[in-house]
Amino acid sequence: MNKKIAVIRGDGIGPEITEEALKVLNEICRKFGHSFEYTDVLMGGIAIDKAGTPLPQETIDICLNSDAVLLGAIGGPKWDSLPGNQRPEAGLLGLRGALKLFANIRPAKLLAPLASACPLKPEITSKGLDLVIVRELTGGVYFGERKTYIDENGAKTAVDSMKYSDYEIERICRTAFETARKRRCKVHSIDKANVLDSSRLWREIAHKTAELYPDVEYFDMLVDNCAMQLVRNPAQFDVIVTENMFGDILSDEASMLTGSLGMLPSASQGDGSFGLYEPIHGSAPDIAGLNQANPIATILSAAMMLRHSFDMPTEADAIERAVNTVLEKGYRTGDIMSEGEGLKLVSCSEMGGLICGEIR
Ligand code: IPM
Ligand code: MN
Repeated sequence: MNKKIAVIRGDGIGPEITEEALKVLNEICRKFGHSFEYTDVLMGGIAIDKAGTPLPQETIDICLNSDAVLLGAIGGPKWDSLPGNQRPEAGLLGLRGALKLFANIRPAKLLAPLASACPLKPEITSKGLDLVIVRELTGGVYFGERKTYIDENGAKTAVDSMKYSDYEIERICRTAFETARKRRCKVHSIDKANVLDSSRLWREIAHKTAELYPDVEYFDMLVDNCAMQLVRNPAQFDVIVTENMFGDILSDEASMLTGSLGMLPSASQGDGSFGLYEPIHGSAPDIAGLNQANPIATILSAAMMLRHSFDMPTEADAIERAVNTVLEKGYRTGDIMSEGEGLKLVSCSEMGGLICGEIR
């Protein structure tokens, strides 16, 4: 199959981890006889430096003309003092919005070889840790009105508004229920309905949608409780559906339960098969350029791309199996290294190479 992939390498460790994911995709092409055509596009800090804006129109156009987008990571201290709407992050939010990618799928699974890298006690993790966070991605406080102003008493004041409409909640809930149907048929909808109007609407629509899926078990949970339950008893969760910012926070927490932020992939989807695939972690400026980053989250994101956008489940399985085997053999990047078990510390590019070797 021929596929067109727009590639955003981005900032910090972005270029290094993207390179490893492309190596793995090329290995898949060789093995399964596909051909992927990559087009590099600019977004984030590097786009600010080279094109004067975090999201050039050309990037949107090329992404829209591709079958999928692969993204490394964006942002860094260099651009931290820019006004909010000119920061690298504004490029990412603009791209998610422009491509209408309202559903962000973030699977968190504790792989057996990484059990010792999980900070939870074995008696908790032995019950299993395999969940998916379905994060609403184009609404809520990320996209609501915001401003900073001097109020009538002369106080410097800032406001960000969390806004949701019924159709935005309904479509993301449907994604969650459909996802649950392919798994263990359980959905937890996470909100703050004891305080927020947007959460009360969220809960009302989630209940209505749940009625359409009588085969799926449904639970409401408050977000503070969910943060606690994730470390107390993560085995209770199958699919978690939640609004944009709660999902951002809970998915970082869930990622750490799998051993490291460097392990969690994500898929951002809209209505069709098109999607944007990126690790959930950031650009880790402290280790940028040192060949120390963990490329696994990006490589697993590429696997999600094969599965969701290209309908290539066998190829996606091959990548996921190869990752598991390399970890089973004891190879670790710094973030998932633990002591005294005959584990072997490898670089970012060595990890990519080892995964390619297993696929071959
Ligand atoms: C993520 C990131 C982004 C987000 C940032 C970089 C804007 O943290 O994808 O989780 O908050 O969505
Ligand atoms: Mn985040």
